[in-house]
Amino acid sequence: MSFKVFVTRHLTPDAEDKLNAFCAAEYWPEETPPPYEVLLEKTRTADGLVCLLTDTIDRRLIEQAQNLKVISQVAVGVDNIDLDAAAERDIPVGHTPDLLTEATADLAFALILAAARRLGEAVDYARDGHWQTWGLTTLLGEDIHGAALGIIGMGRIGQAVARRAQGFEMDLLYTSRSRNLNIESSLGASYLPLMDLLQQSDIISLHVPLNQATKGLISAPQFRQMKSHAILVNTARGAVVDTDALVTALKTEQIGYAALDVTDPEPLPLSHALYQLTNAIILPHIGSATRSARNNIALLAVDNMIAGLKGNPLQKQVKQ
Ligand code: DGY
Repeated sequence: MSFKVFVTRHLTPDAEDKLNAFCAAEYWPEETPPPYEVLLEKTRTADGLVCLLTDTIDRRLIEQAQNLKVISQVAVGVDNIDLDAAAERDIPVGHTPDLLTEATADLAFALILAAARRLGEAVDYARDGHWQTWGLTTLLGEDIHGAALGIIGMGRIGQAVARRAQGFEMDLLYTSRSRNLNIESSLGASYLPLMDLLQQSDIISLHVPLNQATKGLISAPQFRQMKSHAILVNTARGAVVDTDALVTALKTEQIGYAALDVTDPEPLPLSHALYQLTNAIILPHIGSATRSARNNIALLAVDNMIAGLKGNPLQKQVKQ
C-alpha cells in the first residue's frame, strides 16, 4: 500500500516527479495556502505532510493527524510548525538549509545596495518624469564601501552576507548567540553586544531565526540606539522587528531606511503605513526565489519526506 502525502502547494516538476514515483501525493492546487480547516481534513489520514512557511502546523493539527510520520517544510525557517507537538509524537520535521543560503545572501545584499543608493526612488523619479537635469544634490544616498555593516545572527546566511561585504571593503561587526573566533579571523568581523552593534553600524542586516528569544528583537529601544542614517535590512522573519516601532522610527527619521523582504504581517496589506513611506523598500518575501534554489529546496524537501517514510533519518532534520 502506498503512503499518502499531502503537499500544500505545487512543487517544481522535478520534485513532483520524484515524490509521485514514491507515494500517492495530493497537491493543493491553488497559489494561496489551503485554509486551516482543509489542512486539518487533509492531514487527518495522511502519512506525510510537505508544507510551506505560510501554513500553520500547530498542536491541534499535529495531534489529530494520527497517521502522520513526517513533516517536511520547503524552507529553512520552521517557526510556523509546533516543534514540541511534533517531538511529543516522534514526528521528525525536515527543512531545507544550505541550499538557499547564497540566494538569500544575494538578495540581502541587493537590498543593502537598493536602500543605500535609493534605487526604488530613483527608478520612480526617472519614470515619473522628474528627471530634468543632472543635480548635484539629487537623490543622495549613503556610501556602501567602507560603511560599517552590523550582522545580527552569524549563521550560514549571515556569513554569506559578510563574504559579499568583504568585496565592498565594509567594516564588519556581528552579534550572535555566541562568539565564533574562526569567523572573526576568516571574515575580519568584530563581535559586539547587540546594543553596541546598533550604535556603531551604518547598515544592519538581520539573519536570526524567529523564536521566543528573537520575536520583537528590534523594537523602540533598539531603534533609539541606531544612527539617524542607519539602514535596516530584514531578510529573516518579519516578526523579528516590531513593525509599529519601525514605522515610527522611519516616520520620525530616527533611522534612515528600511529594506524588507519579510514583514509582519505577511502579506503586508496594501493599506499598511509602510507602503506610504519613501524611506522603505518592501519585497514580497523573495529571498530564496531563484530558479535553482527553489528547485533544489523542493527536491530536498521531497528527499526528506521519502527518507522519513522509509523510516530513515531525514537528510536535513530540525533539532527538536
Ligand atoms: C526560508 O527558507 O525560511 C526562507 O524564508 C524562504 O525564502
